[in-house]
Amino acid sequence: MSTGQDLYRRARQLIPGGTQLLSKRPEMYLPEQWPAYYQSAHGCEVTDLDGRTYIDMTNCGVGASTLGYSDPDVTAAVLGAVTNGNSCVLNAPEEVYLAELLCELHPWAERVRYARCGGESNVVAIRIARAATGRDKIAFCGYHGWHDWYLAANLAGDAALDGHLLPGLAPAGVPRALRGTAFPFSFGRVDQLEAIVQEHGSDLAAIIMEPVRNEADPAFLQHCRAVAQRVGAVLIFDEVSAGFRLYPGGSHMVYGVEPDIAVLAKAISNGYPMGAIIGRASVMEAAQKTFISSTYWTDRIGPTAALATIRKYRRLSVHKHLDAIGRQVQAGWLAAAQAAGLPIQVGGIPPLSHFGVEGPAATEARTLFTQSMLERGYLAGIGFYPMLTHSAKIAEEYLRHVGEVFGEIAQALRQGDLAQRLKGPMAHSGFARLT
Ligand SMILES: Cc1ncc(COP(=O)(O)O)c(C=O)c1O
Repeated sequence: MSTGQDLYRRARQLIPGGTQLLSKRPEMYLPEQWPAYYQSAHGCEVTDLDGRTYIDMTNCGVGASTLGYSDPDVTAAVLGAVTNGNSCVLNAPEEVYLAELLCELHPWAERVRYARCGGESNVVAIRIARAATGRDKIAFCGYHGWHDWYLAANLAGDAALDGHLLPGLAPAGVPRALRGTAFPFSFGRVDQLEAIVQEHGSDLAAIIMEPVRNEADPAFLQHCRAVAQRVGAVLIFDEVSAGFRLYPGGSHMVYGVEPDIAVLAKAISNGYPMGAIIGRASVMEAAQKTFISSTYWTDRIGPTAALATIRKYRRLSVHKHLDAIGRQVQAGWLAAAQAAGLPIQVGGIPPLSHFGVEGPAATEARTLFTQSMLERGYLAGIGFYPMLTHSAKIAEEYLRHVGEVFGEIAQALRQGDLAQRLKGPMAHSGFARLT
């Protein structure tokens, strides 16, 4: 047993759900064995409460870091903000510098608002879209956070959200009156979007979607752009995860499709809370018709960290590194699986890579993978979001271990003793109540 697991048992008595983010629940990786808490994180190394240091080959802070943990340049900038006062009655000038930089990186955007989290930034975007159009309904594709407007899609009782990244989201506590206000469509499915438009087109305030997650489809983005134009809805690109992976800014810049609003968070500030809602003046000015305001949206650390992150990202063309390491790991997974005779599927754009073992024992296989990699000194799951600090050598060494672990899983599958090799319960997937 580890100090982290002991502490997590205490957490579960006091904190419903154990953690503040579902994806950081130890059960999502390795129930009863995952280190659960860290005492320090530098580069791509994480040290747990027992002083054990691991190489992090997971989604790295759930996508919040591209430069690596405790990046020295971001740390120095943040320390400056702390030393000079993180907040007072006046505003942080970095808000303006950051707005100028974001509009320079996205020449179609003319106005900027800020929040601190990804889902919350989407709420701001949705409110602005509703205020700008005077309409209520939303068509969406993908995961956009925990808020009422989004979970409302599951009030219809048909688990509409299950196909959108995170299955099992319960709409308990979401007002029933919101039923019939949010309608999902799948990425690439023009027909589904057209069906929503047919029924609700004149009531649609916004079409919100991730421009990319698994594979690029610029023609589909173009189609969504045209539909939004046709029905008078605001097109919102949720770049919370895709942003700053393919380009120093939103991924839509690579595909040449311009939304009305883009939402950036997570990687924008390398581990410090920051979110930006950028958009066309004609839509964003509606923020003045409605009340959108919060005390800690004014803190200095957020925009300071974002400026330091974006400047470094640009200077070093970090997206090229993320792409190269992501490709190396995807190719390595496939090669290792082939050598081991293990059937896997690999997906995601290289900076948001993931794999899955095929077949009925997929969850056991995933759990054994994490268990064996942990024993070898790696934090590892089925997703890998590279950072600047992941060198080709680190990836190569990781892949050597993956090769051996894939061999072990394939052997366990052949012998039918996969479950017996697990030293604790199976990993969870999706949203589930903790007992
Ligand atoms: C596309 C997308 N939108 C929104 C969110 C929610 O962001 P946050 O967890 O910062 O609220 C996420 C988080 O994974 C995301 O991937």
